This record gives sequence, C-alpha cells and structure tokens, in this order.
Amino acid sequence: MDMTDARPTPAPSNASDADDRRADQGRARRRPVELAVVVPTYNERDNIQPLYELLCAALGDVQWEMVVVDDDSPDGTAALIRDMSQKNANVRVLQRLGRRGLSTAVIEGMLATSAQYLAVIDADMQHDETKLAEMLRILRSGEVDIAVGSRFVDGGGVGDWAADRVQMSRIATRVAKLVLKSDLSDPMSGFFMIRRDAFEEAMRNLSGEGYKILLDIFASSKTPLRFREVPYRFRNRVHGESKVDTLVLWEYLALIVDKLFGKYVPARLILFSMIGASGVVVHFAAFSLSFFAASLSFLAAQTIATFVAMTTNYTINNILTYRDKRRKGASFVTGLLAFYLICGIGVVGNVGVSNALYNRDVKWWLATIAGIAIGVIWNYSASSIFIWDKKR
Ligand code: GDD
Ligand code: MN
Repeated sequence: MDMTDARPTPAPSNASDADDRRADQGRARRRPVELAVVVPTYNERDNIQPLYELLCAALGDVQWEMVVVDDDSPDGTAALIRDMSQKNANVRVLQRLGRRGLSTAVIEGMLATSAQYLAVIDADMQHDETKLAEMLRILRSGEVDIAVGSRFVDGGGVGDWAADRVQMSRIATRVAKLVLKSDLSDPMSGFFMIRRDAFEEAMRNLSGEGYKILLDIFASSKTPLRFREVPYRFRNRVHGESKVDTLVLWEYLALIVDKLFGKYVPARLILFSMIGASGVVVHFAAFSLSFFAASLSFLAAQTIATFVAMTTNYTINNILTYRDKRRKGASFVTGLLAFYLICGIGVVGNVGVSNALYNRDVKWWLATIAGIAIGVIWNYSASSIFIWDKKR
C-alpha cells in the first residue's frame, strides 16, 4: 500500500527548520480512509484471515480499513489480529477488557475510525462481503444515509435455517416495528453501511443493549434515516460457533423496552417489575403446594411461599436483569440474604405508605397501588445499589 508521499525537503537553515523536518519524517502520510469495516469478534480466530482476504478481493482499490473489536476472546483473536496489523496497515484491533456486547463493540469500533463510511460485518463470513462495493456506491451517490443488507427482499435469503429460527426471526421483526420509524424488511440484520454523519446524529441516543445495533440506530436517529436495501443470502458458519444463546431474546426485549420507555423510566426497573409480577404466580403455586397438597398451616404455607417467590425473583434477576453483574458461588448466597432483607424493608414501606394514605381517605385501591410502587422502587433501587453494584 502507498503509505508515504515523496515530498521535497528544503535544506535546514536553522535549528527550528531541522525540528520541523524531524517532525515530518515521523509522520507517515497516507491517503485518507474512505471506508471502515467494523468487525465485532468473540472467539473468531479461524475466521479473521479468510475474512480479510475476502474483503481485500471485494473492495479492490477502495481506501478501506478493517477495525476489529474483540472482547478479549479466550482463543486469542486479538493477538492474531495484532500480528496481521504488523503486515497489513489497514488492519487494526480494539481489544476491550472485562466487557461483552455486540452492539457496544460496533459502536466503539465506529468511534475509533475517521472513515466517512462505516460498515459492519460479522467475522464468521455469514454475511456476503461482495455486497459492500454496491453499498459503497449507493452511499457515495448521496441519495441515502444507510445501505442495509437484507435477507427478506427479492434476491436475499436465510440459507438453511431451521424452521423455528425463521419463525423467531419473523416474530422479532414484527416486534421491531414498535420502535422503528421506517419500513425495513430486515431490521435484525447485522450487515450494513452508514454515513458517518448519520451515525453521529444517532450515537448519543443509542441504547447499546444486546445484539441489534441496526435497529438501535434506526430507533435512535432524530430524523428518519433514508435507506436502501441490498439483498444478500445468509451463509452458513464454517469455523467457530454462534454466540447467540437464549439470553439474546431477553436482550432483545431489553432493547425494545428501553427504546419505548427508557426516556422516562430505566429499562432495568421495568424488567425488574415484570419479574416481580411473575413472582405472584410463583407465590400462588408454592402456597397451593404447601397448604393444599402438604396440608401445612396457613402461616407455614404463606411463609414458605414468600421465601420461594423471593428466591426465584432473585435468581431470575441475577440471570437476566443483571446478567452483566451476575453473582456466583458464595456471592450468590450473600446476595440472596441481602435480597431477603431488602424485600423485608420493602414490605414495611409498602404497608406503611398504603396504610397512611388509606387513613387520609385515599381510595383503597389507590393506596394499595402507591404501596406496591414504593415497595418495588425501593427493592429495585436498594438491590441495584447493594447487591448488583459492580461487575464480579
Ligand atoms: N466484540 C464482540 N462481543 N463480538 C461479539 C459478541 C460480543 O459479545 N458476541 C458476538 N460477537 C460477534 C461474533 O464473533 C460474530 O462476528 C458476530 O458478532 C455475530 O455473532 P454470531 O454469534 O455469529 O451471531 P449470529 O450469526 O447468530 O447472528 C448474526 O446474524 C444475524 C442476522 O443477520 C448477527 O449479526 C445478528 O446481529 C444478526 O441479526
Ligand atoms: Mn454468525
């Protein structure tokens, strides 16, 4: 690659000229990068080199760079890319420590480059990199802000996905319409190219939750994005394995909730309350088992049901709401004990507030709702401060 421009240097006439010249020599000059291809990775060691070759072939003489954002993959992906960077000036790695997340990886990769056009592609070659040149042509024309790889327009496809995954993808697409301001056929796509200024307009509103960065960008942009869809066929993964697990669904829900209500209430509080509400079902089930099936006294059954519900609530919140700060081993147990204590105080607050309101002639149901709200907000605030306060 052409890294330096030959340029005449005048003979130094005094000390300060010599300083300038030294500064110039240390400055590698290169043509500006027009396109950055951001590649999020987690354990993609075997895919990176082949992907790079494919990108080189697809992008020809475009001035482009590959920015890999790796979340400290145990398989040593980052070190491998650093080796590649020593040989190829247009390869860079951004290694993040103690963090996970596809969306935030993409956001930070975009912020780490100065290129005018920003593309995102998976490392596993499931996306069709030959479409990048077309996307670039579309963006250069200035007619749209973003070119989106789509599996669901004519000429696109999902390869051989299992029927249930196709079905799930359909449902997720329908839910996406709740927060989308545009009629995208494939809002779940992880393959697209956007103009830097369009990205910058959205970036401070991004939620960064989960996997769906494209959806996030569309939902976060102040003005509706002008887009064009480019059909592609989703390929099968050859090396490594998918990171999409059951938690992805939950993360997707978190993103939608945050986009819908995040301006008013923290998304975690909503998720926490939903899990709390599901605790009522658990409570009734545990109570029925103890009272009717095991014939325990009302007091014993009620006590058992309360503890079962608190324990399941704690466990589910630990897995889902605070998945990034999950407590394990001994810390799981101390957290559970603290949760009992916090819920106990929450009950006192709930009863105290609702009773005080009722005594001041507030309607019984309004007093009850106020009591529950105080209890939930207390439980949420106290447990996020005292139990799930930091990464472990
Ligand atoms: N940095 C980082 N951190 N990268 C991650 C993480 C993470 O926590 N999790 C996954 N990745 C990287 C993977 O290494 C891969 O390069 C890419 O993100 C996609 O992950 P896959 O595990 O291969 O996801 P998928 O194939 O099931 O789903 C993909 O395709 C869907 C359809 O287009 C993703 O791109 C989805 O976002 C997309 O909806
Ligand atoms: Mn994949």
